[in-house]
Parts: sequence; C-alpha cells; structure tokens
Amino acid sequence: MKSSFQAYAPSNIALIKYMGKLAAETGSNRPANSSLSFSLNGFKTHVRASVVEGAAEPFTWAPLRKAGLQAPHLSEHGRVRFLRHAERVMKRIGAGLPSGKSILIESANDFPSDCGLASSASSFAALTMAVAGLFESTFTTEELADLSRDGSGSSCRSFFSPWGVWDAEGARAAEGLPGEDKLWHMALIVDDSLKRVSSSEAHKRVTSSLLFRGRPERAEERLRQLMDCLRRASGSDGVHAWNRASEIVWAESWDMHALFETSEPGFGYMVPESLRVLNLIRELNLKHGGSENYRKPLVTLDAGPNVHVIGWRDEQSEQMKEELTTRVRSFARVEDGAR
Ligand code: PMV
Repeated sequence: MKSSFQAYAPSNIALIKYMGKLAAETGSNRPANSSLSFSLNGFKTHVRASVVEGAAEPFTWAPLRKAGLQAPHLSEHGRVRFLRHAERVMKRIGAGLPSGKSILIESANDFPSDCGLASSASSFAALTMAVAGLFESTFTTEELADLSRDGSGSSCRSFFSPWGVWDAEGARAAEGLPGEDKLWHMALIVDDSLKRVSSSEAHKRVTSSLLFRGRPERAEERLRQLMDCLRRASGSDGVHAWNRASEIVWAESWDMHALFETSEPGFGYMVPESLRVLNLIRELNLKHGGSENYRKPLVTLDAGPNVHVIGWRDEQSEQMKEELTTRVRSFARVEDGAR
C-alpha cells in the first residue's frame, strides 16, 4: 500500500444516452441500453487518496487544494455517496484499512465548479482510480471501469478516451472513430444552477413514460448506425456519413428529453436559452449547408439545460463555431472541453 495516490479522469458527454436501469431495485447500475460517449479532456476531476491517522471516521473528504483546481460543492448526500464508493472500491479489490488508520479523499476539478458542468462521471472514475492506486490494485482498466459503474453508471465510460462504449459486456474504448485531433468541442452554458431532478431520479421516472416502450431497441439501433457513420466519417463519403451522424445525435438528445417531459410526473431541464442555442445552430447549419463539404456539428444536451457541440476541425466548421460563439455571447458562457 502506498501512503498517497493521485489520479484524474475526464468527464464525458453521451451521444447515445444511458437512461433507465434494469433491475433498479437491486441498487446496481445496469443500463437499459448501451451508450456511447466522447470524453472531455478539458473537464477533469483530480482525486487524491491518502492514508491518515487520527481521523474521526474511516473515510473523510476534503477539497483538494492545488493551483489551477477548484473544489466541488459537495452536499452532505454527495459526500456520503462519494465516500461509500471509496469504501466499496477498497473492499472489492480485496483491500482493508490497516488498524488505527483511515483514508482521506481529496478532490477538485480543473474546470469551474459552478458552471453547470459538475460531473459525477469524472469524479467517480477518478475516485475509483485513486483508491485502486493507493492499494496498488492489479485490476485492469476494464475491471476498474466496471467497479466504478456501481458508484456512477456513466463514470465507466470516462476510463476510455476519446470514445467510450458501454454495453452488456461492460465498458471499453470504441475503436476506429475519429480522433481528438479531428474534432473540437464546446459546451454552451446557459444556466449554471443545480439540477432539480437528479439523474438517479430521472433513471427511475423515465420508465413511467409511454415513450419508454421501445426505447432500449431505439437506442441500440441508433448506436449501431452512429458507430457506422462515425467510422466512415474520415473516409471517401465522410461528409455524408458525418452529417448522418449529426442527425442521429440530434434525434437521440430529443428522445431523452422527450422521455423526461412525458414521464409521470413529467419534468424537464431545458430553459428558453437552450432552445435559442439550438435554433441558432439550425440557422447556421442552413447558412453553411449550401456547400457540399459542410459538416454539421454533433449537438446534444445532457440531463441539463446546457448544449454540447462537437464539430469537425475544418475551415468551414470552425467558422461556424466562431459565428456561434459570437451569437451566443450575450446569454451563454462558452467552455472548451477538448484539449
Ligand atoms: O451516471 P448517472 O447515473 O449520473 O447517469 C447519467 C445519465 C446521463 O448523463 C443523462 C446520460 C449519460 O449516458 O451520460
């Protein structure tokens, strides 16, 4: 066992969403459908796990104080959930606390904590890595991702970059898709307040929507189509394949938000500015769409009001990005998630 170990993990944005759990009553995060995400290396959580003496509790949390990092605002519930996961990781890798010692978990983000991007995915992935590292676990990345999933489902995809896929066999890197060198990302933050409905609650409520019938099949079909389009996006019919990918991602984002709105009771995350951004993107796509080489960006919302945009690094798409940045300046904050 080491005396201290520090790890970091990126946040991720799902293009095919994990929404709804199987056998939710067991408390394990088994997804109703497979999902695919893009890791956001510009939005990382850093976690340090250390062995300490004289603490009142076996596991305690404190903000990680380091230049360039910002401590998250953890509620009491959030703190308990986080520390419970640290204990779960320790037990599952077969380790235990040496007598008289306890574990201090410190964490912070390298992106602004109050900007509506707070991510359980990056925190739980980094926590799993930090505790496993502290106890010098020999688990593979896939095994650690599987373990992390029990803390926060979507965190299992944050172990893989730039693309993570999570299906019935577990999470792993999705191969053959465009690399980070080909893509840009921006998050348009229109509202940075905390979620009123947590994602855990959303997973439960969506199953009451009539639209949930057929949802797992729809998501699986979209995943197959999207992977195929993204694989072809760098090839000879790349523009066409990428633009088809853009349509699939758009439809998937609306599918999840329609599930929210049609749940019983219904709920929603969008604010007027979310729609303003989406309409602006539509307008700019129409403006540039006359050119046969134009690649429409992939546009999606998480369970929140902010809009994520992933574009192709070419002149026209970057010009669209500039225009979008200028047009949203009065009502949205722009954060760059790809580094
Ligand atoms: O990992 P959780 O339980 O926070 O669920 C995340 C669900 C979404 O963020 C809405 C979608 C996803 O796949 O990341």
